[in-house]
Amino acid sequence: MVFGATGFVGRLVAGYLADHAPAGVRIGLAGRSGQRLADIRAQLGAAASDWPLVVADSGDLASVEMLARTARVVATTVGPYRRQGLTLVEACAREGIDYADLSGEVLFLRESIDRCHDMAADAGARIVHCCGFDSIPSDLGVLLLHQAARTDDAGDLEDTTLVVRAMRGGVSGGTLASGMGQWEEMRSSGERRGQTEDPYSLSPDRAAEPDLGDERDLDWLSYDGDLRMWVGPFLMAGINTRVVRRSNALQGWAYGRRFRYREVTGFGAGPAAPVLGAAVSTALKALAAGLAFRPSRTLLGQLLPAPGEGPSENTRRKGHFRIEIHTHTSGGARYLSKIEARGDPGYAATSVMLGQSALCLALDRDLLPDRAGVLTPATAMGAALADRLRSAGHTLATQRIIQ
Ligand SMILES: NC(=O)c1ccc[n+]([C@@H]2O[C@H](COP(=O)([O-])OP(=O)(O)OC[C@H]3O[C@@H](n4cnc5c(N)ncnc54)[C@H](OP(=O)(O)O)[C@@H]3O)[C@@H](O)[C@H]2O)c1
Repeated sequence: MVFGATGFVGRLVAGYLADHAPAGVRIGLAGRSGQRLADIRAQLGAAASDWPLVVADSGDLASVEMLARTARVVATTVGPYRRQGLTLVEACAREGIDYADLSGEVLFLRESIDRCHDMAADAGARIVHCCGFDSIPSDLGVLLLHQAARTDDAGDLEDTTLVVRAMRGGVSGGTLASGMGQWEEMRSSGERRGQTEDPYSLSPDRAAEPDLGDERDLDWLSYDGDLRMWVGPFLMAGINTRVVRRSNALQGWAYGRRFRYREVTGFGAGPAAPVLGAAVSTALKALAAGLAFRPSRTLLGQLLPAPGEGPSENTRRKGHFRIEIHTHTSGGARYLSKIEARGDPGYAATSVMLGQSALCLALDRDLLPDRAGVLTPATAMGAALADRLRSAGHTLATQRIIQ
């Protein structure tokens, strides 16, 4: 069941499933307007002509519970999740229904873990947040490094850095609304801000996490001698790093107790690199400053896309991303994983990732790790999802670096 099918990403996910789901998979569309769901279904072509439609509003508990009961897996793009998401998570956790979403909101994820993890674990539900560009490439990329090092008996993962080498795409109104909502909460409460900034904010057991010194996200340009390039902040690091650390903890710290993880944007080593890096880092700081003050936030809200709007088809088609993750192991080895896809990362590639996550949860149960609760993409689906994404045209590859 695709909940939020009338929204910008929901339409893309529904379209992806109409074109790529195997014959025999029953798919339904859910949202708060029956008429608009029927209009969306009509645009999806013959494959979707008999898809059932379910009217549900996340503010109406009974309708959300009914939606959960009709499905084996719910993929939801109803956001901002912090405002609209928890009723469905609770319903799925209680009913034992698998769930996948695109949330990148740390405070929502923390609330979901605190309220629903034990309930979902008892009911056998896999609740999987962050099944889009944040945080599947990060989470699966690190899992692949861990599996490669373990196969070679090369020790634990230690210093590990994700570098964004190339990225092109746009942004939707729903993403901006979610980001601004989280920003407002952080501004209004020191406790919330502290929760968001804690590197282990999504830990299943905060007190048991290792003390590895300063693990703050990078906020300015620097030269990295190990990577031999200029690196600067990456906008999604604040969510992705927490998800990857949660994956480590949920697996009993299988990546290692000295696993230090960060995410950066790579600007290369040429003479123009520090100039470009400084310009991008300044732009990110300016955006953060613009969001911090109500008048400029209101102005930005008027200039940027509204909920329901997002990048054009041309932008989605021409977009792409290329990511590398470098790691050192305790045995002295180095590995590199490469994750790459064509299409706008947050929309074209994300609709593939969420669509394949839903299919993975529905169809690959025998291949999935034996785990339930509020999970991450790596701990809920792991290698089965990586195989699906490769079949869908994404690159996920790992190699050992000979020194
Ligand atoms: N992780 C990633 O990589 C990634 C990428 C893209 C987007 N996202 C996230 O995905 C979410 C959706 O983005 P978007 O651009 O598609 O937003 P959008 O176009 O605004 O769509 C939001 C959807 O939520 C529905 N909705 C809102 N309130 C509801 C309620 N009370 N009950 C039921 N449905 C309700 C809307 O229904 P109506 O049509 O009836 O208004 C719409 O279908 C955002 O949180 C965004 O941050 C994440």
